[in-house]
Amino acid sequence: MLDIRIERTSSPKAKPADETKLGFGKIFTDHMFIMDYNPEEGWHDPRIVPYAPIPMDPACVVFHYAQECFEGMKAYRTADDTIQLFRPEKNAERMQSTHDRMCIPPIPVEDFVQAVKALVDVERDWVPHTDGASLYIRPFTIATDVGLGVHASHLYKFMIICAPSGAYYAEGINPVRIYVEDDYIRAAPGLTGFVKCGGNYAASIKAGELAEEKGFSQVLWLDGVERKYVEEVGSMNIFFKIDGKIYTAATVGTVLPGVTRRSCIELMKDWGYEVIEGKLAIKTIMEASRAGKLEEVFGTGTAAVVSPVKELVYEGESAFIGDGKIGPLTQKLYDTLTGIQWGKIEDTKGWTVPVC
Ligand code: COI
Repeated sequence: MLDIRIERTSSPKAKPADETKLGFGKIFTDHMFIMDYNPEEGWHDPRIVPYAPIPMDPACVVFHYAQECFEGMKAYRTADDTIQLFRPEKNAERMQSTHDRMCIPPIPVEDFVQAVKALVDVERDWVPHTDGASLYIRPFTIATDVGLGVHASHLYKFMIICAPSGAYYAEGINPVRIYVEDDYIRAAPGLTGFVKCGGNYAASIKAGELAEEKGFSQVLWLDGVERKYVEEVGSMNIFFKIDGKIYTAATVGTVLPGVTRRSCIELMKDWGYEVIEGKLAIKTIMEASRAGKLEEVFGTGTAAVVSPVKELVYEGESAFIGDGKIGPLTQKLYDTLTGIQWGKIEDTKGWTVPVC
């Protein structure tokens, strides 16, 4: 159990006037959580302090060798003004797996969850009141040793910041166009595709920019060895409904084990769908499209929630999905998940956790 010191700001910022125009991750709240690590004391000095820049030596390891990682979570305001989190222990567990891969000392799951709850409690007035908007929470860890040798740092900072946010995509819940990337790759066996480190995203930016220039929202990554099998999309996992069955890549080393992904799989299995986690070739998807059997495609992620895809472009050929509108299963998943998150439908799964 952390003994968190709280220092409140004396100059709170004005809250956003129009919660329908928040965008994603653009405005930050009044406070942040910080906790330091050194080998003598372990994780220590947990504190919530006014949001501000942090002084850092230019030779810190994180700036040169990217020893860092992050998580993405949200806090939701229900109709009766309860503020709640969605499966926060799952993010804590994934952060542990990421810390392990990045040679960063672990943070106990209960300490991570306690820190998130404590900060959200201090910032509860920042949790949006508007449908579809929430408080995006960004926990992250950075290596702060000073020096240019390529080694694991001895010093770290674990921090949490919060951003009241709306939809991740400008399209909102409207279907997006995705470019199937067959040149650049995101991950390969033995690398870091299964964890949430910034390096994965840094390596993805070039392909994402090129795709955006061509009018796509994001790229769909193929496996890094054969460039044959679908893995994930820029900021989300991806699912394909083909001839009644649901397919998604297995999380076996190169794909991020998304919390929304896992939750959607559980819901679909409850509803009687066969969900296959395994290898799915892009060629199979294009063939299914030609045969009129590619029924729905959607991405899942904390930021993106459940995001319908209307078109995939692979080697110059377009696969159009449905009639360009959100499909019934995608809509049902979106409604159920957001219904549970915003407390509009009963949480029979025990997924929501109130912030007291
Ligand atoms: C999230 O969905 O929370 C993520 O972390 C994706 C992010 C890169 C926007």
